[in-house]
Amino acid sequence: MENFDKIVNLCKSRGFIFPGSDIYDGLANTWDYGPVGVELKNNIKRAWWKTFVQRAPHSYGIDADIFMNSRVWDASGHTASFSDPKMDCKSCKSRFRADNLIEAHSKGKVNPDLMTNEEMEKYIAEHKVACPKCGKSDWTGIRNFNLMFSTSRGVTDDNQNLIYLRPETAQGEFVNFLNVQRSMRAKVPFGIAQIGKAFRNEVTPGNFTFRTIEFEQMEHQWFCKAEDSMGYYADFKKKAWDFLLSIGFNPEHLRYHDHDKLAHYAKAACDIQYLYPIGWEELNGIHHRGDWDLSRHQEFSGKSMLYLDPFTNEKYIPNVIEYSIGADRLTLAVLCEAYDEEKLEGGDTRVVMHFHPAIAPYKVAVLPLQKNLSDKAREVYDKLAKHFMVSFDEAGSIGKRYRRQDEIGTPMCVTIDFDTLEDNTVTIRDRDTMEQIRLNIDELVDYVAKKVEF
Ligand code: GAP
Repeated sequence: MENFDKIVNLCKSRGFIFPGSDIYDGLANTWDYGPVGVELKNNIKRAWWKTFVQRAPHSYGIDADIFMNSRVWDASGHTASFSDPKMDCKSCKSRFRADNLIEAHSKGKVNPDLMTNEEMEKYIAEHKVACPKCGKSDWTGIRNFNLMFSTSRGVTDDNQNLIYLRPETAQGEFVNFLNVQRSMRAKVPFGIAQIGKAFRNEVTPGNFTFRTIEFEQMEHQWFCKAEDSMGYYADFKKKAWDFLLSIGFNPEHLRYHDHDKLAHYAKAACDIQYLYPIGWEELNGIHHRGDWDLSRHQEFSGKSMLYLDPFTNEKYIPNVIEYSIGADRLTLAVLCEAYDEEKLEGGDTRVVMHFHPAIAPYKVAVLPLQKNLSDKAREVYDKLAKHFMVSFDEAGSIGKRYRRQDEIGTPMCVTIDFDTLEDNTVTIRDRDTMEQIRLNIDELVDYVAKKVEF
C-alpha cells in the first residue's frame, strides 16, 4: 500500500495522471492523463491492437458509437439487471456494495458471488459487519442499483428519448456482427475488436484508476461454431496471458481466477488477476457467452443473426468467446509493475520505471551536456522525432536529468557533448543497466528502432 501511494504521487508529479478538475478540488473518481500518461496509455492500446487486430488475420477492428438504440440494452439485459447490491449505512449515510463488505470482512474466505441478496443481508447482520467509514453496524436492506448512466436525446425529456452511455463496448461488436462479416467477406470463425470509452455509475469506485466511472475498454469477440468454442475459450485464456507477458509482466504477479458463479447463459468465465499493491484484483476477463448475445439481438431487433456457412450451407447463430480488458486498469497495473526503487552504490536511491521499451512513454531523451550544444542536440532530436516520441531536456545537471528520465521510464538517453561536434558520435545510456556506449548519429534511428520493437 505504501508503494501504491508513492505511485499515485509520482503519477501526479511526473505528468502521468492528474486528479480530474484539479483546480476545483476535483470530482471524485475522475482522472486526467497528462503528457506522459497519455503516451503510455496510447502505447498500451497500440500494443493490444497490434496483437489482436494487426497480427490476427481473421480479426477486424471497429469503432462503434457510444450511444446506441436503447433496445440494445434491453436485449443485452443491462436495463433489467446490470446492477450492484448496495447498502446504506443508516448512521453515516455512506453507500457500499454488500458483496465488497462481505469479501473484506471475511478476508476473501467467503465468496459473495455465490450468495443471494437475502443470504448477503443475513451474513452482514449475523457477523455485525461494520461500516468501513464510521464503524457502526446499522444497515438498510440491499437494493439493486443500476449502473448505467442515462441522459436524454432531443429537446423533450420523455421516456422515448432516454438513452444510455454504454456500460461496455461489447454490444457495438455484437450488433455489427453481420455488417463486418458481409463487408469483410469474413468466415466463421472470426473476431471483432474495439477500443473505446465505457461508463458505469459504480457504487464503490476508487483505488486511483482501478475502478472509475468513465474508463476505456479493449474488447474482442470471437465468433465460432459451438463445437469448437471450448477450444477457443482455452486459446483466449492463453492469448490474454501471453499478451501481458509480451508487454513486460512477471508471470508470478498474474494468476487465473475461474468464476464459481456463471451468468445463466455462460458456459465458462475466468479473470486474470494481477497482484496490485492493494492485493490480487481482476485485470481482465475471458467469457464463453454461448449464442446468447446474438440470439437476444435477433429476438429484440427482429433481424436474423443467422450465419450461412458457405462450405456446408448450414445456417446457425455462432457462439462467442469474449476477451475484455480495461485500458486504464491495465495502465495502472503497468505502472505498478514498472515501479522500482533501486539502491545505488554510495547509498543513493533512484526511482525507475522499468517499462517495456515498446510501451514506454518516451523512447529516448536527447540531452545536451551544456546549453551551447543545444543546436547540435536539436538536430539529433529532429532526426529521432520523425520516428519516435523524444524528450528534449537541456535544464539542470546531467545527473538530475537522467533521474527524471528514469522516473518516467525513458529507456535510452542520448547525450550530446563536445566530442559530438568533432566526430558525430553521441553517448547512449541504458535506463536499466545505466551502462553507456558511444554511437555514430547516423546509426541512432536503427539502434533505437531495434530496442523498442514490439
Ligand atoms: N463485456 C464484458 C465486460 O464488460 P467486465 O468484467 O464488466 O466485462 C471488463 O469488464 C473489464 O473492464 C474488466 O476486467 C476491467 O479491466 C474493466 N473495467 C470494468 N469496470 C471498470 C471500472 N469501473 N473502472 C475501470 N475498469 C473497469
